[in-house]
Amino acid sequence: MSAEILHPGPEGIARAAGLLASGELVAFPTETVYGLGADARNDRAVARIFEAKGRPRFNPLIVHLADVAAARGIALMDSDAERLADTFWPGALTLVLPLRPEAGLSPLVTAGLPSVALRVPDHPVAHALLAAFGGPVAAPSANPSGAVSPTRAAHVLDGLGDRIAAVVDGGACPVGVESTIVGFDPDPVLLRPGGLPVEAIEACLGGPLAMRGAAAPVTAPGQLSSHYAPGAAVLLEAATPPAGALWLGFGPGCKGAALNLSPAGDLVEAAANLFDALRELDSRAAPGQTIAVAPIPDRGLGRAINDRLRRAAAPRG
Ligand code: TXA
Ligand code: MG
Repeated sequence: MSAEILHPGPEGIARAAGLLASGELVAFPTETVYGLGADARNDRAVARIFEAKGRPRFNPLIVHLADVAAARGIALMDSDAERLADTFWPGALTLVLPLRPEAGLSPLVTAGLPSVALRVPDHPVAHALLAAFGGPVAAPSANPSGAVSPTRAAHVLDGLGDRIAAVVDGGACPVGVESTIVGFDPDPVLLRPGGLPVEAIEACLGGPLAMRGAAAPVTAPGQLSSHYAPGAAVLLEAATPPAGALWLGFGPGCKGAALNLSPAGDLVEAAANLFDALRELDSRAAPGQTIAVAPIPDRGLGRAINDRLRRAAAPRG
């Protein structure tokens, strides 16, 4: 069995919404990466997500919604949460909020936690699908657990094509890295850098955003050592051409790089190209050959890029 490829017009959206309603898995584009969607109220459908990805059940999922009103029905939002949602939704921001037990979500979505991760994506196809389905859609990135996240429908098919009912092909994801995740402790705290720059969140809140310390107990994104990893080994901070390795460059200084995330040194462009570039170099790498990545400035989207690269380079479990 292989996945139906749906076009993002009204017919494809109606088909995708119908599959979700009957408990099937449907991958769909968001502005960050492709998500692997299931009806968040249906235990069997949500269980299929974990099975298809090979994802540990203790790692909770993000619930995708059409608008902030739907979010208020699922979680409690204090004034900071309301302000962040008002400013950045729809967009590449996920908020981890106290769950309303009466919301009717499958407990598998939250891995039994009293909190739930919510996001209103800013992508016309995602929005059309969420509106047509009319309910909460649990969706992790649509890749096998630990692998590089998909930014094109073809990436989804490569990794999960024989394990899902359909993928809606909405072209390349414009942001290219996953959403930024903010929790409340009860003050806002950064759980994962992502497609919304931390600086923008700090400007909205009017002060620095706390970062979750490494010793924190919650199952946070990327506590699993290796993640976002291509098959080839990844080496970081390669400022000059590394002997024998494939060099992934950034900026105008990287003459002779195999690929350059952004020859102009633009971090937004680099984020959009990151996962595609890792896949491309992985396919070019000879057995045993390493991918060596140029230094990326640690500001704006560079924080998310460096976070993903560190995990891609982490020791393989
Ligand atoms: O951009 C994105 O966020 C994409 C698209 C599809 O929306 N989704 C995504 O999902 O990246 P995923 O499952 O790959 O990452 C979600 C992260 C997980 O690492 C999980 O640990 C964290 O969100 N998370 C979910 N619920 C949580 C909770 N209640 N408390 C703390 N972390 C939570
Ligand atoms: Mg993921």
